[in-house]
Amino acid sequence: MNSKMRLYLYLNIAVVVSILLIIFYLYSIRQISHRESVYSELSISVQESTTETVSFKKNDIIIAVVACGDRLRESLTLIKSALMLTKEKLNFIVIAEDELRESFKEKLNEWKAFTNNAFSFRVLPLNFPTKDGDEWRVLFKPCAAQRLFLPDILPDVDSLLYMDTDTLFLTPVESIWAYFRKFNKSQMAALAPEHEDPNVGWYNRFAKHPYYGKLGVNSGVMLMNLTRMRQFQWTEYVVPIYKKFKLHITWGDQDIINIIFHYHPGKLYIYSCRYNYRPDHCMYSSICRPAEKDGVAVIHGSRGFFHSEKEAVFKAIYNVFESFSVGGDIYKDFYQPLEAYLDALETTNCGKIKDVFLKNVRRFLDLDFDNT
Ligand SMILES: *[C@@H]1O[C@H](CO)[C@@H](O)[C@H](O)[C@H]1NC(C)=O
Ligand SMILES: *[C@@H]1O[C@H](CO)[C@@H](O)[C@H](O)[C@H]1NC(C)=O
Repeated sequence: MNSKMRLYLYLNIAVVVSILLIIFYLYSIRQISHRESVYSELSISVQESTTETVSFKKNDIIIAVVACGDRLRESLTLIKSALMLTKEKLNFIVIAEDELRESFKEKLNEWKAFTNNAFSFRVLPLNFPTKDGDEWRVLFKPCAAQRLFLPDILPDVDSLLYMDTDTLFLTPVESIWAYFRKFNKSQMAALAPEHEDPNVGWYNRFAKHPYYGKLGVNSGVMLMNLTRMRQFQWTEYVVPIYKKFKLHITWGDQDIINIIFHYHPGKLYIYSCRYNYRPDHCMYSSICRPAEKDGVAVIHGSRGFFHSEKEAVFKAIYNVFESFSVGGDIYKDFYQPLEAYLDALETTNCGKIKDVFLKNVRRFLDLDFDNT
């Protein structure tokens, strides 16, 4: 090789190397700015939620509620019922509108003090995944839609028990949580049927969209394995399904859940009506056999029944829970008044079977000495 050729070769190598360096430089600038934008998004959400930076461990029992509008008292009464009837350390995630968050924190901190820190909680703002964010904002009412996005917005949470605000525990939460262990490899959520009887079922008679099983499911009390829901890519189903069926949807998020599990029935565990006991189960006649046998586990005052005179048992149970002061004597200040109210309602349809509401509370308080 003569020196001219060698020079030419070096020159070529230099040009190629510089081009590579420039490409690499441009690429890394892009990466950094991308990462910065990710960090700045993160820091916004972290800032918003640093008020409660409670971290959860894998086997923690977590109860989640979403509260908007006038649902503050109801949600707190639900949380109170969980605290009253448990032997475990509970954890709560409350997702609430701006106007409600301070009141939640204040009350829950007060209760923590009264119970010697028997529980932990996070109060978070409504939050939706950024992907398709604008789209859902137009499509859904924020509070109703929030629970559909829990797998995305709580990436550090493995599993939780989602409760509608108009529900109350009549049994220890841990006995419901235990159902996670009954899931097979494909199940990612548990729900109770919407109805027991096809003659009065809503979905089988009126729905204009697909729904789970023969009579649909009620979404008021939902065990959610968020890890499995993320693996399934749950959120990817929500917006397209809403768009496709929005003209036929009556019950909002519950209908979307029914549609998703219509197409994936093997992913849902069905527990009995006693885990989601509604006025329909006793207002005409008693149609929830498992509750007659083992007592109601969760009572659900759907369609405003905790606040109406229509089936007085529902309102009475709500009122006794609401009046109870956390830290008080559960037997004297809760069980005795409850029993007295229910005795007085023996002539009403739901009052006729009043023992179904007392059974698990009695068991929790160890009141049935003679039959163990
Ligand atoms: C949820 O599912 C994941 C993945 O299968 C599993 O590791 C985890 O133990 C499950 N959580 C509960 C509470 O069962
Ligand atoms: C889990 O149970 C459901 C309902 O019985 C069933 O459809 C599904 O095939 C089961 N999955 C496995 C992996 O056994």
